[in-house]
Amino acid sequence: MLKDKKILLGITGSIAAYKSLLLVRMLLKAGAEVRVIMTPSAKDFVTPLSVSTLSKNPVLENLSEAGSWANHVALGNWADLMLIAPLSCNTLSKMANGLCDNLLIAVYLSASCPVLVAPAMDEDMWKHPSTVANLERIKLFGNRIIPVGNGELASGLFGEGRMAEPEDILDFIFQSLSEASNLSGTLSGKKALVTAGPTYEPIDPVRFIGNHSSGKMGISIARELSNRGAKVKLVLGPTEIDLPESTGLRIIRVQSADQMYDACIREFPDSDITVMAAAVADYKPISVSGLKIKKTAEDFSLKLTRTRDILKSLGEIKKAGQVLVGFALENSNEKNYALQKLRSKNADMIVLNSLNDRGAGFGHDTNKITVFEKEGAETPFPLQDKQQVAKHIVDRIVNRLYA
Ligand code: CTP
Repeated sequence: MLKDKKILLGITGSIAAYKSLLLVRMLLKAGAEVRVIMTPSAKDFVTPLSVSTLSKNPVLENLSEAGSWANHVALGNWADLMLIAPLSCNTLSKMANGLCDNLLIAVYLSASCPVLVAPAMDEDMWKHPSTVANLERIKLFGNRIIPVGNGELASGLFGEGRMAEPEDILDFIFQSLSEASNLSGTLSGKKALVTAGPTYEPIDPVRFIGNHSSGKMGISIARELSNRGAKVKLVLGPTEIDLPESTGLRIIRVQSADQMYDACIREFPDSDITVMAAAVADYKPISVSGLKIKKTAEDFSLKLTRTRDILKSLGEIKKAGQVLVGFALENSNEKNYALQKLRSKNADMIVLNSLNDRGAGFGHDTNKITVFEKEGAETPFPLQDKQQVAKHIVDRIVNRLYA
């Protein structure tokens, strides 16, 4: 049932590690290829020799070995699914805070596949507010928590905190992998166009008018569309984010609103799905000085003129079957402005994020959105990691396409 599936198993320091040996056997029996990473303290509970013998692969332990570097990025990309079982309190806390001091965490931070964790700890640790908060945090990052069981614990006490049984963990693995593969092909054959990041409007050769957009939301959406099989072109304004070519996205880099407009008008007719997540400047200097402007008088004013509204222009040429999604970033009268944008720009969906919500909008790794659709649906979502938010937005798009 797991034929050709590549599973990366992380074992951390917990008495429940003995169950992971059983799990390795079950995974192999189900047809999976298994590679195991152990944290240093996991070795106090099970030996690398038993793990490597059972998994039929050498155990991975260190970021570098005998002068050569363990490629954590390649490992993170290799896996179809990463499972950390047992997940100790210590590793949980590192995952919640990105504290990268061993190979397991380095691979976790690089993994592009679904990540499942099976916590194991004594009841008092399990119920401690810091554990509860850390679990909430890693859930927000998109990780899936396999519920703990009740029973006898390592301390000899009875209570909550036992690691799930290997059979139950296996069920979770089946479920996650089938969800991922159901999603992976849903947009195959579809073409998508996404804008992201700020625009810079030049004033002279050294100055510009810009904004604080990081591009993270648009990039997450582009990645999600691509994960589901769409061919994605990403029109990307000047952001700090370094996107490797390996993302599978076709990246069209632009600087100004005019350049973004030209790229979008060119690419739009061929696009089934268009998501305008960029923070496009509304005004640009009426003229750009060829020479650096020198300071002279005490006051200086710059005459600005409106940029073209890209979303609105695309709305005017949109054909039946094309899905057009815009964003609205507001800090007052949010719903009204969002609905106004939906109508005036002839969009199918507007994703509203309010500057009044903590953790939403520019620069954050999280966002809190409400999606408004032209038929009247209004769907609010909780504060979540931007990759998770992107999944919700793409779910709504898929719904529209196949409704
Ligand atoms: N947008 C665009 N071209 C512009 C300005 C905005 O395509 N010149 C798009 C954005 O990418 C976003 C949507 O329009 O999808 C709404 O952007 P926003 O800045 O919130 O709204 P504006 O239309 O610029 O209105 P205002 O600034 O008055 O709120």
